Amino acid sequence: VKGQEILCIEDIKERADANLPEIAREFYNSGSTYQTTIAENSSSFNKYRLLSRVLVDVSRLTTQTECLGRTVKFPLGVSPAGLQAMAHPDGELATSRACARMGVNMAVSSFANYTVQQIVSAGQTQAETDGVGPGGPHYAMQLYMMRDRALQERIMAAAEGAGCKAIFLTADSPVLGVRFNEWRNDFRTPDGLGFPVLGWTSEMIRRATHDTSFMSFNDDTHSWARDVAWLRSRTKMEIWIKGVLAAEDVELAIEYGCDGVLVSNHGGRQLDGVPSTLDALVECVDAAKGRIPVHMDGGVRRGSDIFVALALGARHVWVGRPAIWGLGYKGQEGVEKTLEVLYEDFRRCMALCGCRTVADIKRSCLRRMGIDGV
Ligand code: FNR
Repeated sequence: VKGQEILCIEDIKERADANLPEIAREFYNSGSTYQTTIAENSSSFNKYRLLSRVLVDVSRLTTQTECLGRTVKFPLGVSPAGLQAMAHPDGELATSRACARMGVNMAVSSFANYTVQQIVSAGQTQAETDGVGPGGPHYAMQLYMMRDRALQERIMAAAEGAGCKAIFLTADSPVLGVRFNEWRNDFRTPDGLGFPVLGWTSEMIRRATHDTSFMSFNDDTHSWARDVAWLRSRTKMEIWIKGVLAAEDVELAIEYGCDGVLVSNHGGRQLDGVPSTLDALVECVDAAKGRIPVHMDGGVRRGSDIFVALALGARHVWVGRPAIWGLGYKGQEGVEKTLEVLYEDFRRCMALCGCRTVADIKRSCLRRMGIDGV
């Protein structure tokens, strides 16, 4: 129908917003306190202009790249975001199947509403059905350091057993950021949904707020010196640190032997007022000096945003809310639509900038507003 097409992530968000109750919508869409960082995550992309190039043969352009030991269709994956079954009953299973169809990787939240085995096998089954080759997506398991180390070990063993390739250790959350909506709406996990990764049934969390649930297991004594070595001694999965913004923390990640860092401010849900991830990316890439890969997430809403992040040195980019909006719009099909919109836009952006491979996407493809003469 004319006027009904979905052309961009904003179109998908609008439909998801219309489908979801206000409490769920605010839980997903909000950042912490004054919403400064969440807004800047997206607006920072406007600091850059794309330098299109002419007369480059792009007929054999490829968007493929490597992520977590696998060739992916393009440099985008789905970030670990909890409580996806509140957006659609199939939740993380639908996200996983969509990732399989679209040839990208997925990170599984500790607050997923399905087990890691269920999530991974949903993607693998989809990949087999589609005949896209064995295995399907590669998965990362998102973890926090937990006071109950025996439970943390069981979660890691389950993730490794399910075939996850990496741990994304979310390191930015010794305490949770304050999201006003959760307090004002007295947000509770909807009845019937549990957190099976953590072993929590719906009954166990019925009366708890998100904040009290989190504080009940999270270990705020976490540290580089103790915990990276501990993780390394207990798993063969790669160890990535999620939530890095400072060059000094990139140095520490390298010093402690981490496999990579994910520049992230938790989608603006932790400390409000930190730099946007795109701004932080530049100093983190400079600090890494190519010694470990630097990924980023936060505010990516267009294919050209992926391009800008790569031009500034990110090896790969992840999205949180756009996948959730896809779920809220239309389950698996909606997440596929999200990934497709971003893929098509990214591919077109590469072609118009004269980049034939992802490796061609360099700092010289950009001009910085107000600085480089634009
Ligand atoms: C998140 N994020 C997150 N991160 C994490 O490490 N563990 C988690 O359980 C969650 N849960 C979560 C829930 C919801 C509803 C959102 C929106 C986000 C943060 C997530 O991994 C990612 O860093 C951001 O979502 C990226 O920003 P965008 O793409 O949402 O702007």
